[in-house]
Amino acid sequence: MSKPRLQAPRGTRDFYPEDLRRRDWLFAHFREVARRFGFEEVDAPLVEHAELFIRKAGEEIVDQLYHFTLHERHLALRPEFTPSLARLVMARAGSLRLPLRWFGIPQCWRYERTTRGRRREHYQWNMDVWGEPSVTAEAELIAAVFSLLDRLGLAPGDVRMRVSSRAWLEELLHDRYLAEHPEAFAPLCVVIDKLDKIGPEAVVEQLSDRDGPVGLDPGAAKEAVELLGLRDLEEAARLAPEGSTAVADLRRLFELLDAYGVAERVEFDASVVRGLAYYTGTVFEAFDAGGQLRAICGGGRYDRLLESLGGSPMPAVGFGFGDAVVGELLAEKDLLPEPARGLDDVVFAFGEAERPAAVRLATRLRGEGRSVELVLGSVRLKRALADADRAGAARLLMLGPDELARGVAKARDLATGEERDEPLPG
Ligand code: HAM
Repeated sequence: MSKPRLQAPRGTRDFYPEDLRRRDWLFAHFREVARRFGFEEVDAPLVEHAELFIRKAGEEIVDQLYHFTLHERHLALRPEFTPSLARLVMARAGSLRLPLRWFGIPQCWRYERTTRGRRREHYQWNMDVWGEPSVTAEAELIAAVFSLLDRLGLAPGDVRMRVSSRAWLEELLHDRYLAEHPEAFAPLCVVIDKLDKIGPEAVVEQLSDRDGPVGLDPGAAKEAVELLGLRDLEEAARLAPEGSTAVADLRRLFELLDAYGVAERVEFDASVVRGLAYYTGTVFEAFDAGGQLRAICGGGRYDRLLESLGGSPMPAVGFGFGDAVVGELLAEKDLLPEPARGLDDVVFAFGEAERPAAVRLATRLRGEGRSVELVLGSVRLKRALADADRAGAARLLMLGPDELARGVAKARDLATGEERDEPLPG
């Protein structure tokens, strides 16, 4: 028999206690920001019917699915949370009070090529607003991202948010091409999202591939790629058709971001299109200012997802914010804390005769809400003391025959070394 492989699968993590304390620290910030913005937490199964995630626009996320067939059911580990959210919304669509503000911190699985900050599992803080068509929702979500980054101790200049609009791109390409092929827009976005990775020539080639899902003529494909170079909203507005709602939305969004006090940290960048097929309007991504890492978070408006899954139309917008990329950035800036264990007391009995009293004392202290480690088995005092010190406990409570006779335990303050008597429970 071959030896079992004892390391965690590549791209996945084990969480030792200190890792989990740090993860809890980050999640507590996610939850606190969501709470302050009035969002409610939800969750869904890690395993879903695979078809929930399978779309036909050529997205990477579909190729990276962890999926399997069990008892003739095709199932998949969720690569993202948004389709599950859509399922939750759809099941109660008639009875939900809109707009809905939901957040979650799901673990997501993607069979990626692993690099720095890119893993095969990650936890993803999601905040989504359902049932609100106006950019007031986008503004609120982008403000929440900055609120989180500030809480983590990052400086305002450390992370930039880039914003664009698929609706703007769609307006520009409409007359030239999309009027006759509206179904080509989603795959077109998926292809141009690869610009950074495969370069402009390859993107033009894929867009104009006659046998591909887009099939633009090469001239139009080149023009589409050129549009992505725009960084100035006024120029983007000039190119757009008169009365463009996409441009009006982008302008309004920047005005609102100004009111939130974060407009300086956000820029228009036409190269942001996002790689998921379902986005329809505003799209945004946050990056470290040094440009070393993959996106810290990404999101956008997906007003037609519910319909595409068979539900009635409902506007929606949200973002996903991974734990791994921001973890890399925080480590680089030396901002990752080492949260203490929070152990209050260690209770130590010198011998078996004192153990029942030690148990009663530990039980009383636990009842008072203190975190208490009871020394198990027979251990020497020196070892118990060193362990308590290493664990960061506040006190060591010692119980020997003398203390038992006096009805007390000797409580040593491990920071100062001071000792005093702690009465035993009666
Ligand atoms: P996404 O851009 O695929 O969007 O992922 C969002 C974020 O999750 C990324 O910016 C990154 O921080 C993190 N992430 C994704 N894949 C990995 C990975 N392999 N390793 C580490 N971190 C990763 C979505 O998933 C959308 N569902 C977000 C959304 C919510 N849009 C609307 N609502």
